[in-house]
Amino acid sequence: SSGEKRPALIPATPPGIHRAAELLRAGRLVAFPTETVYGLGGDATDDRAVAAIFAAKGRPQFNPLIAHLPDLATAQRWAIFNDRAYELAQQFWPGPLTMVLPRPANSALSLLVSAGLDSVAIRVPGHPLAQSLLKAAGIPIAAPSANRSGAVSPTTPHHVLESLGERVDGIVTGGKCQVGLESTVIDLTGPEPVILRPGAVLPEEMERLIGPIRVSAGDPTAPKAPGQLESHYAPNASVRLNAPSAEADEAFLTFGPDRFVFGGATRLNLSLQGDLDEAAANLFSHLRQLDQSGAPRIAVMPIPDEGLGVAINDRLRRAAAPRPA
Ligand code: TXA
Ligand code: MG
Repeated sequence: SSGEKRPALIPATPPGIHRAAELLRAGRLVAFPTETVYGLGGDATDDRAVAAIFAAKGRPQFNPLIAHLPDLATAQRWAIFNDRAYELAQQFWPGPLTMVLPRPANSALSLLVSAGLDSVAIRVPGHPLAQSLLKAAGIPIAAPSANRSGAVSPTTPHHVLESLGERVDGIVTGGKCQVGLESTVIDLTGPEPVILRPGAVLPEEMERLIGPIRVSAGDPTAPKAPGQLESHYAPNASVRLNAPSAEADEAFLTFGPDRFVFGGATRLNLSLQGDLDEAAANLFSHLRQLDQSGAPRIAVMPIPDEGLGVAINDRLRRAAAPRPA
């Protein structure tokens, strides 16, 4: 309306955070960094702002969003915490963990955030810029990953610009996200805790605190989180997994020492040392870069299916899943 060019690139400074918070409070959409990926933020109590998030992403309205809060105390106003939730929050917040909990009756949170369910996903991110922004905004912020629905998640402000362009009002230009994969999502609404999406907080770490957890993500027969199984994180190129070598026309995403590995028109290594944390942080940006090389296919070397490798493989399987026609 002021004739400003969209999106505004907002510096990661105190005045920048103040401006981003003002935009959010005015119902506008602002992308901001978290330690996992960049989020596309909007006021979670404002139906119009939340509807605008779905529109900007091209996201189906049955896929609910995460509400972000600066700390456990404020989070407790927006969801009902049982003992397990409280334990996990104490241990892992702020951090890359999202909990699905019952919504309080008469919650002022937009029903669109929950996609009409009687639960709500809550996260307290650890990134200092996300922390400052949430505190300055003073409202719960709904924030899916700041990419078009089904595409590769953004780990830099540049990725957000590429993916959403003028569909977003502002982008807080923090640096690269440290974790690089979206938060672990755990559903605590039933008798048994269920992991809906693997991430950097591992099931075994949580089981030490709250006992047995079922891992449902990747189970094609029981998709509960709507983002759970269909094609997702998809580059334009098709993706071929567990490739020990690549064809001449393929781009090749390698892992670990690859000097004596064969093939690939273009190559990027997730971590020469075979470090899974480093691989996770590089995954989405490397997929984007290989996609931009123009190769019709991306071959991917096997990644160990342990620790953070479980979450990496989850994202890779979705990237390789059959695409909707
Ligand atoms: O790391 C993250 O979680 C990032 C950053 C920005 O915080 N956000 C993110 O949001 O990944 P999104 O919308 O891309 O993923 C949210 C996931 C989806 O799989 C969604 O289906 C699930 O959480 N989810 C949200 N609310 C839910 C609910 N009430 N019940 C079950 N699943 C829910
Ligand atoms: Mg996403």
